[in-house]
Amino acid sequence: MAQSSIRQVAVIGFGTVGVGWTALFLANGSDVTVHDPAVDDLATLEAALAPSLASLRELGRTGHGRLCLAASPEKAVASADFVQENAPEKQAFKADLLRRLDEATPAGAIIASSTSSLLWSELTGTCRDPERVIVAHPFNPPHLVPLVELFGSDPAVLDRAEAFYAGLGMRPVRLKKEMRGHIANRLSSALYQEAVHLVEQGVASVAEIDAALRDGPGLRWATMGAHLTYHLGGGKGGIRHYLDHLGPSQERRWQDLGRPSLTDKLKADLVAGVEAEAAGRSIEELEALRDATLVALLHARRRTER
Ligand SMILES: NC(=O)c1ccc[n+]([C@@H]2O[C@H](COP(=O)([O-])OP(=O)(O)OC[C@H]3O[C@@H](n4cnc5c(N)ncnc54)[C@H](O)[C@@H]3O)[C@@H](O)[C@H]2O)c1
Repeated sequence: MAQSSIRQVAVIGFGTVGVGWTALFLANGSDVTVHDPAVDDLATLEAALAPSLASLRELGRTGHGRLCLAASPEKAVASADFVQENAPEKQAFKADLLRRLDEATPAGAIIASSTSSLLWSELTGTCRDPERVIVAHPFNPPHLVPLVELFGSDPAVLDRAEAFYAGLGMRPVRLKKEMRGHIANRLSSALYQEAVHLVEQGVASVAEIDAALRDGPGLRWATMGAHLTYHLGGGKGGIRHYLDHLGPSQERRWQDLGRPSLTDKLKADLVAGVEAEAAGRSIEELEALRDATLVALLHARRRTER
């Protein structure tokens, strides 16, 4: 199935990432049928989608796919060309849901799971046609962060999925082997582990640690990844010089990184620190700030990467 023949998409699970996926598919002109047991009217769907669709319009994604609501997963996928599953992250539950979706989805359609940390092999064991089931992990919010990480067993299915996501303006990255947390969540977790360790050790406040990231490496990482960034850290000698010159100090830091446990005391300190940093701003206000900044960053990158 070529990318252009994917017209009808089913979104299973309309929570944090399901909303973003739905907006992205609609804004690119696909018709979308949503199923979520917690949603029973179209007006709720439309209200939840409005901010994401507005952000996508600012990026020139102005398509108008048709939005429908289905009362069961089976009804949602009955005529789907592509299924994006975003239900709760519980292994047995998700594996059973994927089995049901596989039974009800037309032959040849792709079924993609957004799972953050479950492995393809943990999810597809009871599917009749596991080859057409893939992991397609987005980064929140999926309508504005281009990354989607792909893993599956059939290269031809992955080729079709990759073409579909690339056509939505995404940046598919394929894993050569499955790994818990894929790539981006492992990187993110390694960083978060150390950010929590620094709070535990009393090195700085939550807000100061966030500032060190946001106004430091975060800015660089929005332009280049870790490897290419350190290539420039080696000056004219590039990564070869960097590794010879500063590799030993990297190793000393690696050996010193923390492995915190989320004790009640540490959790309370993190919550208090984040509340102080949020300074009364609601989740909706912070989401709006994040999304407006992401749109501006994506515009800036379009200009510099031309
Ligand atoms: N939140 C993130 O940052 C993020 C990022 C990438 C991937 N993911 C992955 O996406 C998936 C969903 O995560 P989320 O954060 O959107 O969760 P969420 O809790 O916000 O949403 C899950 C939704 O699934 C619905 N649901 C429950 N049972 C269902 C069923 N039988 N069929 C269909 N829907 C059902 C719930 O009503 C809820 O709306 C998880 O696998 C998660 O790992 C999450």
